[in-house]
Amino acid sequence: MLSYQHLYHAGNLADVHKHAALAWVLDYLTRKDKPLTYIETHAGRGLYDLGAEEAVKTGEAAAGIALAESLFPKDHPYRQRLEETRAAYGPHAYPGSPLIAALGLRETDSIHLAELHPQEHAFLQAAAKDWGAHVHRQDGFELALAITPPTPRRGLMLIDPSYEVKADYEAIPRHMAAIHRKWNVGILILWYPILRGGAHGPMLRALAKAFPEGLCHEVRFPPAREGHRMEGSGLFVVNAPYGLDAELSALGARFARLPKAAPKP
Ligand SMILES: C[S@@+](CC[C@H](N)C(=O)[O-])C[C@H]1O[C@@H](n2cnc3c(N)ncnc32)[C@H](O)[C@@H]1O
Repeated sequence: MLSYQHLYHAGNLADVHKHAALAWVLDYLTRKDKPLTYIETHAGRGLYDLGAEEAVKTGEAAAGIALAESLFPKDHPYRQRLEETRAAYGPHAYPGSPLIAALGLRETDSIHLAELHPQEHAFLQAAAKDWGAHVHRQDGFELALAITPPTPRRGLMLIDPSYEVKADYEAIPRHMAAIHRKWNVGILILWYPILRGGAHGPMLRALAKAFPEGLCHEVRFPPAREGHRMEGSGLFVVNAPYGLDAELSALGARFARLPKAAPKP
């Protein structure tokens, strides 16, 4: 049974890492006048209210986007997507990755979003009704394999599991290799948590073996609150677009300027 709800974690430093990279890649890809496909295997609800009880309770956004936003220049695509979200949905709104994609893409592009949790899927379907996206209540990897290679063939897949099932770590390299075999030009971006205990280690070694050219980028940060096991955030990118390594280095430098301890609640 699925119990993870991203509303408790939206806007945390892992989201900042993943969403800033995603916004940059989409901005880079849309500089070329050629349509593309965006696929997301684990979409969440797409739009978050950082004023909601759940988000306030964990304090993750307060230790995340609230501290990190000013480190980005105003013309950075992530900062632009944040401002567009607030202009459209109010001052406490935060864009999930599906909304970052919807705001960053054009009418000629195609968006497919998979979300399995009934409540999160219902939210997503309602939120995305004007985003021109195809919303699927389906296992994300099943959808990914069913629709690749997509039309248009050029494009990007974000894989952002909740890692609720420990078997995910073992299965992900196999799923990504199968997707890559069907869609060898697709950019695949995997997010993973860096947890105390290093549960991601074997998965990363398998990915490096399957994709020796893959780009891996990690940032570390203080746990959002006492006892929280997440100490950092990682991205593994297959078919990384030109310039992403430099952009991720700049992102790492921004994280290095963050306070060394989470703010007291
Ligand atoms: C980390 S959240 C996604 C956050 C979102 N990508 C973002 O950045 O805004 C992971 C989501 O995956 C969903 N999920 C879990 N297992 C799934 C599966 N097998 N297929 C599709 N969605 C799944 C969960 O319900 C949860 O909403």
